[in-house]
Amino acid sequence: MRSASIAAALALAPWALCAQQQPLSNQLSTHAPAYRDELLGLHKSLVSIESITGNENEVGNFLVDYLAERGYTVDLQFVAPSHGTPEGRPRFNVLAWHGGPRANPRVVVSSHIDVVPPYIPYGIDHGKVSKDTMIKGRGSVDAKGAVATMIVALDQLLAAGEVSGEDVMLLFVVGEEATGDGMRAFSDSLNGMDPPRRFEAVIFGEPTENKLACGHKGGLFCEVTARGVPGHSGYPWLGKSANELMVRAMARIIDTDLGSSPLFGNTTVNIGRFDGGVAANVIPERAFVELAARVAIGPEAEGGKVVQRKMQAIFDAIDHEAFTFYCSHGYGFVETNCDVPGFETVVVNYGTDVPILKGDHTRYLYGPGNILVAHGARENLTVGDLETAVEGYQKLILHALKQ
Ligand SMILES: *[C@@H]1O[C@H](CO)[C@@H](O)[C@H](O)[C@H]1NC(C)=O
Ligand SMILES: *[C@@H]1O[C@H](CO)[C@@H](O)[C@H](O)[C@H]1NC(C)=O
Repeated sequence: MRSASIAAALALAPWALCAQQQPLSNQLSTHAPAYRDELLGLHKSLVSIESITGNENEVGNFLVDYLAERGYTVDLQFVAPSHGTPEGRPRFNVLAWHGGPRANPRVVVSSHIDVVPPYIPYGIDHGKVSKDTMIKGRGSVDAKGAVATMIVALDQLLAAGEVSGEDVMLLFVVGEEATGDGMRAFSDSLNGMDPPRRFEAVIFGEPTENKLACGHKGGLFCEVTARGVPGHSGYPWLGKSANELMVRAMARIIDTDLGSSPLFGNTTVNIGRFDGGVAANVIPERAFVELAARVAIGPEAEGGKVVQRKMQAIFDAIDHEAFTFYCSHGYGFVETNCDVPGFETVVVNYGTDVPILKGDHTRYLYGPGNILVAHGARENLTVGDLETAVEGYQKLILHALKQ
């Protein structure tokens, strides 16, 4: 928006027509901030280290060394091994701040260091680096773009004396892409203190295209089993088809209004896995579904249960006995604070660690890159995206400290 309006202003300014004069918008887009090399080097190191959930040891160690070298007090918070954790390679959250071990930071700046599979190597466009230079690789967006830009943002503020190092803590957690066990361990550790430790604000980093999120949808994650009675396919009335029951139930779930809200739109359902039966000529005895709903209603603690009850009513109406319905976890929409001057705002449909961290802190959600490519083969962002995020995080940190 801003460069477009500058370009429009230039079109009206007589001196803009001078052939010698570089248009201002070009100058802006080629201007390299002093921290560019540090930022790109850090981002490259992070993306180059494979850290698929469970295997976060190496990237954690890298961050510990990197932050300790820059004068941070660094604390490791160990998290239980998960699927994919190699023997002898413990995984841990990294906590870092400037100041003594007893510092009491007011604001936490946090993202995650695990990524989804498969590993995709780091790559950067050839040629002279500009704001348009594209960087790709697994985690380049989600969320090592956030991790690198958060660190550089805080470094710059500390160097300029704009914040006190004791006021801000960096928190980089494991396990966000699977169960959120890293953030859960951090949250539990706060509540285990006497009195429970609290923060004024937490800034979460996830890809929001450098827009400040007003919130994200909730989620509900479930398994459904239908039990039938097997028999010869020529005599369907002698058996009971689990597949037929499941098809009817899922069709009804898709067609039912599971709740909506003005900010988050409709609750949607993804039937992500659908199995059933054994052969064409056998009445199926068992059918199985895994589904994920994106919940557009609140409140945060109850919205998931409301959707679960609506689904349960559908199963009960179709067959009171055939279905087993189990949801491992659920929550309603999650609101974050987007009332900060100078940001475009957005709402997003994905889950984050935001609801896992308990407490009454103000929550912000912001980061570089586009979620639509984040878990795919085309994951990428530009140098300009990263640099805008450094500035965005600086604004957010200063804003949070002023409240
Ligand atoms: C939300 O669902 C209603 C029906 O319940 C439908 O009319 C509407 O188009 C849906 N909105 C979107 C954005 O999909
Ligand atoms: C890079 O990401 C953008 C989304 O930000 C996407 O539209 C584009 O196709 C991606 N490009 C490549 C080469 O993967």
